[in-house]
Amino acid sequence: MATTHIGAAIGDIADVVLLPGDPLRAKYISENFLSNTVCYNTIRNMYGYTGTFKGKKISVQGTGMGVPSISIYATELIKDFGVRTLLRIGTCGSISSKVGLGQLFLAQGASTDNGVNRLLFKGMTYAPLSDFKLLSLASRKAAEKSYSFSVGNVLTSDSFYNEDESAFELWEKYGVHCIEMETSALYTIAARYNAAALSILSVSDHILTGEVVSPETRQTGLSELITLALEVASDY
Ligand code: HPA
Repeated sequence: MATTHIGAAIGDIADVVLLPGDPLRAKYISENFLSNTVCYNTIRNMYGYTGTFKGKKISVQGTGMGVPSISIYATELIKDFGVRTLLRIGTCGSISSKVGLGQLFLAQGASTDNGVNRLLFKGMTYAPLSDFKLLSLASRKAAEKSYSFSVGNVLTSDSFYNEDESAFELWEKYGVHCIEMETSALYTIAARYNAAALSILSVSDHILTGEVVSPETRQTGLSELITLALEVASDY
């Protein structure tokens, strides 16, 4: 049964779904990495495709940017379409000298400046975590492939443009090395419905130095990101 945002039927979507923010990246992955691909969603141009990778049925669904948008897609995928494993693939900014441009970052947990969980947990602090089995599989595979990667806490922020750039110093002091806009919501929703989630991120910019990845490094980073996520999805 189609939902408000996903125009698919039960069975159209695989148990395991890759979640890029950009719907055109979902299209790109379906065209370049998956076989036997079918497009199951075009509502709001938030494309979703199902295909196979190494014989395993895998879907890839655009989520849009930010906590509200990914929350809609994660909730409907899990509750209405029975998805059990969700792998966000996206970019992040580094706020630490320990994490360099072009590296991969596996988000073990997510801190946030978003207010939804504070309301939900009545002012108390919930700690959104990745699925340990997905995290350990991804880190093992990244090491086997000799990808440069780190594992740690990300900041899921509601702001892409920040008035106060010094705000990141505090997070960095407490071991938060990267910033992005979706992971805390993904991990919270997955936990609520007993599903497994992991964010695999590629470091596209360095907030402290203002550096951004070159087009070549961006492409290499993205292909490492997609390859790693598909390998994890097909072996999980
Ligand atoms: N902020 C938030 N999200 C991001 C950034 C950033 O600087 N870079 C890539 N995703």
